[in-house]
Amino acid sequence: MRTVHLDSETDFDGWREAARSLRLEGIEPARVRFVVGQGQDGLFGEEAAPVVHRPQAFKVSKAFVDLAQEVILHRDADRFDLLYRILWRLQDEPSLIKVTSDRDVARAVEMAKNVSRASHKMKAFVRFRQQGEGDRQRWIAWFEPAHRVLEKTAPFFQRRYTNMRWSILTPDGTAHWDLKALTYGPPARKEDAPQEDEVEDFWKTYYASTFNPSRLRTKAMQAEMPKSYWKNLPEAELISEMIAGATGRTEQMVTAPAPEPNRRFDQVRAPMVDRTVTNEVVPEDLDQLNAALAGCRRCPLWRDATQAVCGVGPKQSRLMIVGEQPGDNEDLSGQPFIGPAGEVLNHALVEAGLNRDDIYLTNAVKHFKHTVRGRHRLHKTPSAAEIDHCRWWLNRERELVKPELSVAMGSSAARGLFGHTVSVGDLRGRIMHRPDGPVLVTYHPAYILRHPDPAERTRAKLAFEDDLGLAVDYLNAV
Ligand code: URA
Repeated sequence: MRTVHLDSETDFDGWREAARSLRLEGIEPARVRFVVGQGQDGLFGEEAAPVVHRPQAFKVSKAFVDLAQEVILHRDADRFDLLYRILWRLQDEPSLIKVTSDRDVARAVEMAKNVSRASHKMKAFVRFRQQGEGDRQRWIAWFEPAHRVLEKTAPFFQRRYTNMRWSILTPDGTAHWDLKALTYGPPARKEDAPQEDEVEDFWKTYYASTFNPSRLRTKAMQAEMPKSYWKNLPEAELISEMIAGATGRTEQMVTAPAPEPNRRFDQVRAPMVDRTVTNEVVPEDLDQLNAALAGCRRCPLWRDATQAVCGVGPKQSRLMIVGEQPGDNEDLSGQPFIGPAGEVLNHALVEAGLNRDDIYLTNAVKHFKHTVRGRHRLHKTPSAAEIDHCRWWLNRERELVKPELSVAMGSSAARGLFGHTVSVGDLRGRIMHRPDGPVLVTYHPAYILRHPDPAERTRAKLAFEDDLGLAVDYLNAV
């Protein structure tokens, strides 16, 4: 039996180096055990032998490395063995990672999802308490993550709370931001964090005022905010009381006068607007541009669309995000990214510490291209020619908004910004310095939403969030 000693519970580099050497030596998974720290050797009848490093390369896909980096953060004691088993099999089964019905792969994907969820919960449920005043002021939070996600998630807080000195204490370790550097320290105890502060009452009042009793779904709420987190959430002590009062408040809402009808239905029935306006004049500002866009006849897509969907956001913005084209919901409402892809985008923006209101959000193609099937209007990918016709608008938007970085989500957006076809897989995750400004290419949220392979969906989602994080880092650095 070979025993590998890892430096810590999340020692991915140690695991990777040892696993690669063991695989090259041909040491089967059943003959390897991974131990964190010094542990005891020889328990299984054989002395630990040093791992021999061989120079040959052992190549595995990026998808496996990304998955393994997440799985290592899971609390399951068998995670190192599971990953080594998958690595072992990859040489003979190079596409194994795509076989989601395989027991090992399914388990690894599930573990990666649990880790991602734990990181998401950490972003949502960390509550800082103030300590000290003036230069000595610090914000301290105690948090018990479901998995070992402190180091994965701390950069989010660095981006989100750049101007605050803060520490997050957990039983696994601590993270500290002193306005200059993010550092990590040893595990802490709950008693090390302040138990209450004066900001807490404001927060509880805010929480109670945003609680909508008619939306109360106790089960869904507990799935989103599992009870295990309640003990460290100041607002949690209000929950039982609010649930108890919910029925009465709902009755009051039901008897109140009816609200205005939904505008969406009027829009569906509304006659098509007169689209005879030509747009030879170069718009001087976004208002002119949006008005002219309503009459765009540069390609035939306007004929079947309800309306052109203009970009939204500040008139000048440091970040412009470009999608492909409006979908069904966007076509009806006139607003970009309000449907399911918009939800994926919103989630990733939060993960990256970005505020949607600060971003100029637009599309490479401004009209909804679709085909009608029964009662449904199904998205159709715009052609290269349609994207190229619409680039006139996108270029003008960029000249007016003057973003310091443009993010292209997906290949249509990338074509819109580059003027020629590029491969998202090859270019994504890098800032490309171009004569008309820097561009970062990433996945389109619909790819994450619709990819048939769950492992690929998870990988792409994490990559998408990382790419938006890179956009934040880039903007913080310029
Ligand atoms: N997909 C896009 O690319 N843009 C939208 O506005 C909505 C969905």
